Amino acid sequence: MLLLFLYIKAMGLALLAVYFIASPFWPMASPKPGLSFFFFFSFFSLFILLLRGAEGNPNPNYGEALAKSILFFQGQRSGRLPPDQKIKWRADSALTDGSSANVNLTGGYYDAGDNVKFGFPMAFTTTMLSWSVVEYGKRMGSQLPAARAAVRWATDYLLLATAAVPSRLYAGVGDPNADHSCWERPEDMDTPRTVYWVSPEKPGSDIAGETAAALAAASVVFRTADRSYSSRLLAAAKNVMAFAVKYEGKYSDSLGGADELLWGASWLLRATNDASYFNYLKSLEADDQVDIFSWDNKFAGARVLLARKALIEEDQAYDAFRVQAEEFMCRILPNSPSSSTQYTPGGLIFKLSSSNLQYVTSISFLLSTCAKFMASSNHTFKCGNLLVTSSTLRNLAKKQVDYILGQNPLNMSYMVAFGAQFPKKIHHRGSSLPSKASRPNHIGCQDGFQYLNTDNPNPNILIGAVVGGPNQNDAFSDDRNNYAGSEPATYINAPLVGSLAYFSGSDYKD
Ligand SMILES: *[C@@H]1O[C@H](CO)[C@@H](O)[C@H](O)[C@H]1NC(C)=O
Ligand SMILES: *[C@@H]1O[C@H](CO)[C@@H](O)[C@H](O)[C@H]1NC(C)=O
Ligand SMILES: *[C@@H]1O[C@H](CO)[C@@H](O)[C@H](O)[C@H]1NC(C)=O
Repeated sequence: MLLLFLYIKAMGLALLAVYFIASPFWPMASPKPGLSFFFFFSFFSLFILLLRGAEGNPNPNYGEALAKSILFFQGQRSGRLPPDQKIKWRADSALTDGSSANVNLTGGYYDAGDNVKFGFPMAFTTTMLSWSVVEYGKRMGSQLPAARAAVRWATDYLLLATAAVPSRLYAGVGDPNADHSCWERPEDMDTPRTVYWVSPEKPGSDIAGETAAALAAASVVFRTADRSYSSRLLAAAKNVMAFAVKYEGKYSDSLGGADELLWGASWLLRATNDASYFNYLKSLEADDQVDIFSWDNKFAGARVLLARKALIEEDQAYDAFRVQAEEFMCRILPNSPSSSTQYTPGGLIFKLSSSNLQYVTSISFLLSTCAKFMASSNHTFKCGNLLVTSSTLRNLAKKQVDYILGQNPLNMSYMVAFGAQFPKKIHHRGSSLPSKASRPNHIGCQDGFQYLNTDNPNPNILIGAVVGGPNQNDAFSDDRNNYAGSEPATYINAPLVGSLAYFSGSDYKD
């Protein structure tokens, strides 16, 4: 098998060499170049086909997956859609969001398969999309403008949501209970678009810290591409961070805001290099042992971001954070003595049964990013006796990404419209209801449920959406009512964008 592989590879290279050596001698005016192109491409495609067959388990097409993972965000857009909108089954929606509080809160992203704009996960989505561009933008090639546009759709909204800070930081639009008891297209929405906010009286340092992180990370994305926009984002980030620090208090009923304050300050430090953020970070030092990274827990992300200072900038003041980042990796790696991470028999990281792939994509982002830092600095570390190199982390990240893209016991791609088999009945209102173009008449709250409960596949393909994924035994039911497995979410896709860009590059070093 190996010999066959080498033989095919050699044949392919020989053909390529003949083509490139001979081509300058073909006279431009003769019909030969066209013909030779034809032969070249037929041989070349044959060569690729044979090569893939010989290798057995070829890499998925990461470039295609990257483009689709970014396109997905267009399907989640709220507000007035621009003329270059590519997902045509969507239309304008929620054009009066904010009006009940006399503010303009149009735009931004619907969170998942529903029509609510939850500010907290939206901000995390924005931070991870931005980090993807900051770290891997150079590998995105022609997808870079689309990735920036996906960030901007969110930050345009976050600028509106933070315009009244410190009196108010708007934390979301849409009554979740009313929304969830309807099955309606966003374009038809008639549930209360309640506006939520935090304020000095009702503080929320978790959402404020995350929003500051998002704006600061996005300011780095636009630093050279659009300097004045970048400055606006950074000014808003500083303002929101000051609000988060001044009025500590939690918004959600989760752990509180310590991790978001660390995360926000880490991103402001990255965006400004201002020592005051470093001093603040040191004052927050926490020894929380985490083995998860998600929209609701940012410790690991902040530590990997700060480990960059230790590894790439060789600043020893950040060594404590680097060590914490390494301890996190030791809790994830399957063969590490301190591992506390469960894996499915097919090799997928398994954290929680609802929307598990959000943890897989977030953790894989940290694995690939830490691998990138370690490769650039020739750094290794140990988990007990286990030596961890950049390829240890990269291989695990690749395995997770490949699993999502179809290399798993079911041969099922968990990205919609990628690969031969993918979920057809995703738990998503807009995707499952007929489009406005095909059914212009209003479909009411209760009338929509027939489209939730039908066995037919969704009429509108939400290209690039990654769903919640399989259960702990690698099983998956393509069933719209299985929201734990079949619902996509912006915060599942956002970190995956970065890992896909990483693997679509020709080498894995920076
Ligand atoms: C809200 O703000 C956006 C962006 O600035 C603007 O395009 C839109 O017209 C505004 N909508 C309302 C209702 O004021
Ligand atoms: C990287 O580290 C290894 C051992 O830790 C060493 O042998 C090698 O020379 C280093 N390479 C570079 C480029 O520094
Ligand atoms: C998945 O694909 C492999 C390789 O093509 C095949 O051997 C296996 O039977 C497939 N499994 C399922 C469940 O279709």
